[in-house]
Amino acid sequence: MEFARHLSEHPATAERRAEILKDPGFGNYFTDHTVVIDWTEGVGWHDARVEPYGPIALDPAASVLHYGQEIFEGLKAFRHADGSVQTFRAEKNAERLNASARRLALPELPVESFVEAVKLLVQVDEAWVPEGDGEALYLRPFMIATEAFLGVRPSREVSFRVIASPAGNYFGGELHAVPIWLSEHFSRAGHGGTGEAKCGGNYAASLAAQLEAQDHGCAQVLFLDPTDDFAVEELGGMNVFFVLEGNRLVTPRLNGNILHGVTRASVLQIAADLGLSVEERKFTIDEWREAVAEGTLREVFACGTAAVITPVSELRSEQGTMTFPGTGADAVWARIREQLLGVQTGAVADTHGWLTKL
Ligand code: COI
Repeated sequence: MEFARHLSEHPATAERRAEILKDPGFGNYFTDHTVVIDWTEGVGWHDARVEPYGPIALDPAASVLHYGQEIFEGLKAFRHADGSVQTFRAEKNAERLNASARRLALPELPVESFVEAVKLLVQVDEAWVPEGDGEALYLRPFMIATEAFLGVRPSREVSFRVIASPAGNYFGGELHAVPIWLSEHFSRAGHGGTGEAKCGGNYAASLAAQLEAQDHGCAQVLFLDPTDDFAVEELGGMNVFFVLEGNRLVTPRLNGNILHGVTRASVLQIAADLGLSVEERKFTIDEWREAVAEGTLREVFACGTAAVITPVSELRSEQGTMTFPGTGADAVWARIREQLLGVQTGAVADTHGWLTKL
């Protein structure tokens, strides 16, 4: 695909960028450019371009504003010791975007165009890729329904865009174990719904529960499936893993409600490479409580592109608090995290071919 280049006449100064890169946090700052590809029914994808970062002009009747026809992705580009910048498993995100597109009745974007768009933005804004421990340039591709029409049907005009944001720890500050809140009044997804699509609506639906979590001092909320023995599903914005005695790693199986996390898949592969036994299966809140009571639960951790791997210290709920061991740096989660970040930053051999150089 040919991309026109309209570069910013007012990029951030080197001083401003350096100031931001000292402590980017997560999702606070955006780079100088954005990539856009438009789609029109009967025409296909057209007008691929790089533009200066800035507000989007949308008709107030654009269907994304009314019916939420929107999907997004999250992936990262890492600075290596030799100065090169490499993206991690971008094709996987492209494929997942297309799976989400099918569910939200949006057009699929060819995988090569997604990868080209992402690489182009990273190239143009390469100076924004941080190099601190655990830091990366977070890329947020998204697709929105732009047609001005209030009838409920798939939009005939769509825009695909990529923005980029230098990112440190999702939970702020240095890596630390986080308490999570058990949502007992809200569900994140229902069977046949959009649970496994990466669409804005899933995250909007998690916010009321997230507020409840915040009121109880928790940064994330855990959702269960009340129609399936209260099986564990996922957190508001990340997948969840358990380490049980005997070096067994357990994570909820993909049942249509759970996001096909790229980090989730990478953790499963790395764990198998490290010799752990890996189980993708139904894991109920009762089994979790029993494992804690019997002392067979070793660790709980969350993972996602934004969260990387973050240990979980407690599950708080209206019934009380369960506290988990294994949040220290000698735990399984820390070994997997070191391996994952090692591959991403070039310190560990990329034996699975997960990196793409710019
Ligand atoms: C990601 O991990 O990339 C996500 O999209 C999750 C979001 C909570 C930041």
